[in-house]
Amino acid sequence: MQQHFIDNRWVAPASGQYIPVIDPSDGQQFDAVAQGNAHDVDVAVGAARAAFDGAWGRMTATERGRLLQKLSQKLLDHTEELAQLESCDCGKPLKQARADVQAIARYFEFYAGAADKLMGETIPYQSGYTVLTLREPQGVTGHIIPWNYPLQIFGRSVGASLAAGNACVVKPAEDACLSLLRVAELTAEVGFPSGTINVVTGFGHEAGDALTRHPGINHISFTGSPNIGKRVVQTAAEHHTPVTLELGGKSPQVVFADADFDAMVPVVVNAIVQNAGQTCSAGSRVLVERSAYEEVIARLAQAFNQLRVGPATMDMDCGPLIRHSQLQRVAAFLDEARRDGLTVAGAGQLVQGAPEGGFYQVPTLLRDVPPSHRLAQEEVFGPVIAIMPFDDEAHAVKLANGTEFGLVASLWTRDGARQLRLARQLRAGQVFINNYGAGGGIELPFGGVKASGHGREKGFEALYGFTVLKTISIKHD
Ligand code: NAI
Ligand code: MG
Repeated sequence: MQQHFIDNRWVAPASGQYIPVIDPSDGQQFDAVAQGNAHDVDVAVGAARAAFDGAWGRMTATERGRLLQKLSQKLLDHTEELAQLESCDCGKPLKQARADVQAIARYFEFYAGAADKLMGETIPYQSGYTVLTLREPQGVTGHIIPWNYPLQIFGRSVGASLAAGNACVVKPAEDACLSLLRVAELTAEVGFPSGTINVVTGFGHEAGDALTRHPGINHISFTGSPNIGKRVVQTAAEHHTPVTLELGGKSPQVVFADADFDAMVPVVVNAIVQNAGQTCSAGSRVLVERSAYEEVIARLAQAFNQLRVGPATMDMDCGPLIRHSQLQRVAAFLDEARRDGLTVAGAGQLVQGAPEGGFYQVPTLLRDVPPSHRLAQEEVFGPVIAIMPFDDEAHAVKLANGTEFGLVASLWTRDGARQLRLARQLRAGQVFINNYGAGGGIELPFGGVKASGHGREKGFEALYGFTVLKTISIKHD
């Protein structure tokens, strides 16, 4: 049974209650995590404040960077252990879980190097003045983490926040806490002062809500569903707490007839199969120039038909979905597609020997999906692609931009002028040309427009969101 990790110690939940931990590969409980409430959150925020006002806050940027680097190495030293935990808790095929450990280690490595390179400016002003800016930490930052990539999303948000000098309170998703509790323990082992990194587990409506409401929180990073994201912003507004929101998407892959199909097909398949489609930046729509439509469908269908789904330990192309309700959500989308007469162009298979009770969904390729259909508009968060044709560049842009989301987009074409022309017209936070980064790219600023959220994570850019700019004007003449 797992406790909270607060002030570098294990702390039992005030409620005395625990939430079952389920293995998505067989649907069985194998552990339990603390059900945190407002009291636990308050204790964690207090510990973080004391760290910020104390030993952690006094460290130089260079010292912070060294600790982050030590943590990065420590995580790599525990790759297998962390990958096993993540794989069992989230149903990830082991190779995906191992890649996630590499990614979190890389985040801490990147932000270790960035910590002492975050600088202010001097500003030319009236004569007799010197004006400079300081980038100061926000203070105590709250991090509400989803279940799809716990390790990676912890790395990208906590890594940047610590580098900027903040202390952190982390609320993992109720379905995926185990790896982050272990990471928190490792932060203490490498020497982060007590209270610098605290993990409070629990339900969103309870512990997550309490974190959002807490007046001692100076910034919130939220990754999750659009509805909850909106609610978090509304609640945080009570204390004027700034929020960075990452709310997923319906990201288009735009394929022109002149594209290199051999290069495109495996990337497009991986961009939806990775993590069983439970990726904010999953490439869930494929828009194809009409003259190449049948050929592209045939190639993608061939690839889809070979995909195999199975338990995390069998390390297939796809693992199970996170929980039963997520499977029901994806199944409801597919039922609707069937009722509306949409055609399945290709589908994977469940492997023999997959345990009963696992939350398995085979990858499914749907063709001729009308642009207004729910399958073309809403985030499924499962291994399902909606494919549709376009006639020309203008039509492609209209379709690509024609959802409420705007996270990632890709263009597959050999025409260099077209690449730049269209990249400028796409409303998305990231545009990939002849490649696609579903979740990848630690160094690359990432975030959405429209319903995909606001603020930027990853890369150096993320550091600005975790700081407050102070302007100092000195009159000396
Ligand atoms: P969710 O938005 O409920 O969960 C995300 C995080 O928010 C979890 O840590 C949860 O405990 C927390 N949370 C929930 N209610 C809260 C509240 N009232 N106050 C503060 N925190 C709260 O997402 P859910 O229900 O697990 O998944 C539903 C859909 O959301 C998915 O099918 C997918 O479409 C989308 N989603 C998108 C993600 C992304 O990476 N952008 C990640 C997870 C879900
Ligand atoms: Mg689990």
